[in-house]
Amino acid sequence: MTLQFQTIALIAMLWATTFSNHNSATNKLPIDPVVEQKITELLSKMTLEEKIGQMTLYTTDWGSTGPTIRPGYSEDIRKGRCGALFNAQTVAFTRELQRIAVEESRLKIPLLFGFDVIHGYKTIFPIPLGEAASWDMAAIEKAAEVAAAEAAAAGLHWTFAPMVDISRDPRWGRVLEGAGEDTKLGCDIAAARVRGFQGKNFKGTDRVMACVKHFAAYGAPTAGRDYNTVELSERSLREWYLPPYKAAIDAGARTAMSAFNEYDGTPAHGSEFLLSQVLRKEMGFEGFVVTDYTGINEMVEHGNVANEKEAGELAVNVGNDMDMQGAVYQTYLKQSVEEGKVSVKTIDQAVRRILRMKFELGLFDDPYKFCDAEREKRTLLAPAHLEVALDVARKSIVLLRNQNQTLPLSATTKNIALIGPLANDRGNLIGAWSGSGEAKDCVTLLEGMKAYTDRYKTSIVYEKGCEVSGTDKTGFAAAVAAAQKADLVVVAIGEDRDMSGEASCRTDITLPGMQEDLVRALIETGKPVVVVLMNGRPLAIPYVAENAQAILETWWLGTQAGNAIADVVFGTYNPSGKLPVTFPRSIGQVPIYYNTKNTGRPFDPNSKWTSKYIDSPNTPQFPFGFGLSYTTFAYGKPTVNQTLFKFGQPLQVSVTVENTGKLEGVEVVQLYVRDLVGSVTRPVKELKGYKKVNLKPGEKQNVVFTITSDDLRFFTHNMTFKAEPGDFEFMLGTSSAETQSVKATLER
Ligand code: NOJ
Repeated sequence: MTLQFQTIALIAMLWATTFSNHNSATNKLPIDPVVEQKITELLSKMTLEEKIGQMTLYTTDWGSTGPTIRPGYSEDIRKGRCGALFNAQTVAFTRELQRIAVEESRLKIPLLFGFDVIHGYKTIFPIPLGEAASWDMAAIEKAAEVAAAEAAAAGLHWTFAPMVDISRDPRWGRVLEGAGEDTKLGCDIAAARVRGFQGKNFKGTDRVMACVKHFAAYGAPTAGRDYNTVELSERSLREWYLPPYKAAIDAGARTAMSAFNEYDGTPAHGSEFLLSQVLRKEMGFEGFVVTDYTGINEMVEHGNVANEKEAGELAVNVGNDMDMQGAVYQTYLKQSVEEGKVSVKTIDQAVRRILRMKFELGLFDDPYKFCDAEREKRTLLAPAHLEVALDVARKSIVLLRNQNQTLPLSATTKNIALIGPLANDRGNLIGAWSGSGEAKDCVTLLEGMKAYTDRYKTSIVYEKGCEVSGTDKTGFAAAVAAAQKADLVVVAIGEDRDMSGEASCRTDITLPGMQEDLVRALIETGKPVVVVLMNGRPLAIPYVAENAQAILETWWLGTQAGNAIADVVFGTYNPSGKLPVTFPRSIGQVPIYYNTKNTGRPFDPNSKWTSKYIDSPNTPQFPFGFGLSYTTFAYGKPTVNQTLFKFGQPLQVSVTVENTGKLEGVEVVQLYVRDLVGSVTRPVKELKGYKKVNLKPGEKQNVVFTITSDDLRFFTHNMTFKAEPGDFEFMLGTSSAETQSVKATLER
């Protein structure tokens, strides 16, 4: 061991001890000694090139050119130079590729097939940010389970999900792919998705391996621009950004993906700190790490290595086991081993981690296990899957405004004008990262609403009005004329699906094109206007927020979008979604999030010298945790079962919630905490619990949360993760901005 490595090892040991309470491994992979022996035997037969082959992942370019593999890649499989592929789907295609591997390669090692199954494979669910608005872990787990069943039926073994990157920046296009801004909600959702994808084991044929990504802090690029530098203190990294990765690992995620961004001057792909120390040592991750797409090569552009060969050496030495698409390992790693820059032990360890998964998936017993064309046919878009998609889509809808109880539509609404570029649109509903989903399988809003016209004896007239983008207003006249003849206007507006997602960041998060003008023209008719938003990020929509009678945030809801929205519009489903992310009034407020610090000069309307803007309120348009219902809920005064509680002892915080409206409804009761005095400053609010309660009209429920000192831990002044004694404020309510509080003191 060189002195440098000894020092790193010592520091790592110390850090592991310091952070052990927070990040200790609770999940160990099932290590089977018989399998380990088989891997040892296999390793002894493999040439160095064949080992490096197992560490190599290529795309098949399915997306752009159809199911044809680049000729060179099939030769790579045959020669044992490529052990895994992504973007290869369907039983027919994966079977053929697998055949080459197990019949024509020397060692007959089966291939692993991966794909970005982010929110469904063929049956498409709401975008992950939308699903997060359900605050419903069972629903989210079920959606991932269905996605896994469909992906596995189409020949896949592995999904590059869940993305658990916390994001406080709506400019960032990938905000749609995560669970929003909150760490606790993010942790719960990360774990639910892993459980859904992976199930209890891989003995059957309906689960796929999960891949927690992107390690780490990819959701915090400067200025919300994808791939940009991350500037984040280690305290914030550990406190807000890292826990969801850990939650996914504890839930058993078999693989992890490195992130494109740098952290503290080092690209994540080359970061000893992130990959060796935090991921492996502190979090105890035992699966394999895959790079992101050409992430190793990109270190040359980052400027921390001189060339790709050096990049490969750094990447493998810090723990990237598999090279996605970069061909760096395939091109240079043999030479690096021969030169002593990379040890055979490091290579063997990476190959062992990868082969272990191929064994666990059962591919050595039956490489065609996931290649059953009959199963594929009966599984994709199965009626039961569409039912789940409808359920999750309804639960993801957030009612943001409802003046004069405009929604749900009353029986007296006879003529509806359905307007807007997204009202009869099929292509956008599946959103970004839509797997193998197809627009043709989606139900449009117009179709969903038309299904109600007989039952409600209503008529619907549709006019597009304008496109999502562009300056054309020629459709306004017809839209306004339709509105004038109607009792009520529903207008569907938002973003096109390619306006969010990877490499789709925006500096302007208002409604694109002429859409706001369209809403203005409709509102000026004097008719009640219901705005249906479809978008992949929080939008800044002050005019709409203050002038439309009702607003439904519907994200991109997937295959069943139109049915789900129509159920809410016509009132056969009472919405209960709550925002998992703050909606700003303007881009100037970004980054804006609820768990902010108080500052030394908190907002005071009567004092100039306090923390505020001169041209905007500090408050957001819609706060984190906000969402209305068709019924109303009244909260009682929160109580605690004791005002003094000791370390390790449970404290019960309760509140009575009553349905004071006329309809049955679901409320997400939220618990926030403030640590009033800490050795370092604490946020004004932190989500610590939430419960979904279903109440009939007039029904009352006492909702109880149990808290212990463990829930109150944070990184103290010397970075020890622990709770500190003192006073705590517990805030219970319907959103992060509407709570009532009760105090209790934690004592030794
Ligand atoms: C790049 C993306 O960052 C990553 O999330 C994805 O899994 C890979 N491309 C593969 O498509």
